[in-house]
Amino acid sequence: MSLASVSRMEAKLLLPTYERQPILFVRGRGVYLWDSGGNRYLDFLSGIGVNALGHNHPAVQAAIKRQASRLIHISNLYFHEYQAELARLLTEISGLDRAFFCNSGTEAWEGALKLARAFAQANNKNGSRPKTRILAMDNSFHGRTFGALATTGQPKYRAPFVPLLPGVSFVKFNDLDDLQRKFDSSVCAVCIETIQGEGGVCPVNKEFLQLASRLTKQSGALLVLDEIQCGLGRTGRHFAYQHYGLTPDVVTVAKPLACGLPLGAILTTERVASCIHPGMHGTTFGGGPLACAVAIEFLREEKKLLRHVRELGQYFHAALLALDKKHKSIQDVRGAGLMQAVEVDSPGLAKAVARQLLQEGIIINRTHETVLRFLPPYVIQKRHVDQVVKALDAALRKNSESSNRHTSKKEKTAPPRRKGAIHAHA
Ligand SMILES: Cc1ncc(COP(=O)(O)O)c(C=O)c1O
Repeated sequence: MSLASVSRMEAKLLLPTYERQPILFVRGRGVYLWDSGGNRYLDFLSGIGVNALGHNHPAVQAAIKRQASRLIHISNLYFHEYQAELARLLTEISGLDRAFFCNSGTEAWEGALKLARAFAQANNKNGSRPKTRILAMDNSFHGRTFGALATTGQPKYRAPFVPLLPGVSFVKFNDLDDLQRKFDSSVCAVCIETIQGEGGVCPVNKEFLQLASRLTKQSGALLVLDEIQCGLGRTGRHFAYQHYGLTPDVVTVAKPLACGLPLGAILTTERVASCIHPGMHGTTFGGGPLACAVAIEFLREEKKLLRHVRELGQYFHAALLALDKKHKSIQDVRGAGLMQAVEVDSPGLAKAVARQLLQEGIIINRTHETVLRFLPPYVIQKRHVDQVVKALDAALRKNSESSNRHTSKKEKTAPPRRKGAIHAHA
């Protein structure tokens, strides 16, 4: 089917939730994708952080073929060979004790919120008011289901669906005083993305995360981290919190875990897990044999790639900082490992640059209006970084002037952010 016929049919038949780019992808290999016209694209987005091993990785392909010919689904009423082994691998690398498997990021996050409430109820032994309040962060993103929306600190995602889950208060991200002010004994969980992804690739500050950890420990609340985008090797460590020298009570992961097959996980401590009993939570599809078999392969490969991700991340970050020196339109360069971002001074410029790169066969993404986000596969090489940085340099040069001419006053962002405000490259 052609792009024209697919897009015509979709326009008539699908809920209009997406503004797709006019490209019909038909195959991928390694760091490249090909469209229906035979054009090749360098993929610096990896399906928003999912295809971390690149496309069509031989180990992934082999695991899918092997498992698909044996057993795809059995439900969670029975055992299969892979959940326990996958949980063993995940608990080993996370420093946590137990896992629950589900189908997506938002579902992992919902489960984590339920865990926080259940843990607080189970520990409310003296008849006082149970802890129910959840502190979430401004500018965060946790998914599209109701609990996830209720803890997502961006009004544009929440507004059409109110009323949401009650009992959530928002804290200014990285504001120690605000966290201290809003935290009290009624709080059951402090929820943080270790690096905010949709919010523009903004890492949490060390002092802020340490304060959240201290406050929750002292009062018996939980520190719940969302590493759905930044976890599982993306920053050059298994988990982004490992750059900060602490371990949360609960962490959620998803995107790259099964290399494109739907799989998410909640990881937690023995102490928290002890509040869960059979029947309290579950899923039909989550943690099926096919997705789990592939995830085991992913974790084998991820381990081998961590050093490479750190090295390439540093190389990429340094090249972006060099661009920053050349371009007045760049407001900030931030990120860790292979989760990098360049913030520019107007939405119009960000849009034009992303569009131009796409025309040149490079896939990146614009998030939070003015932020160019890069989530390449872990298997990229320096030459791929060089190609992207060169194209970015040219696109910024070409579009800075025209965007200044065309960007309306309304589109201009608030006062430019201080360069180098928050970085977590380690
Ligand atoms: C940090 C974070 N949390 C949660 C989600 C939701 O994941 P999913 O789209 O798999 O439901 C996302 C998706 O982008 C995310 O980046």
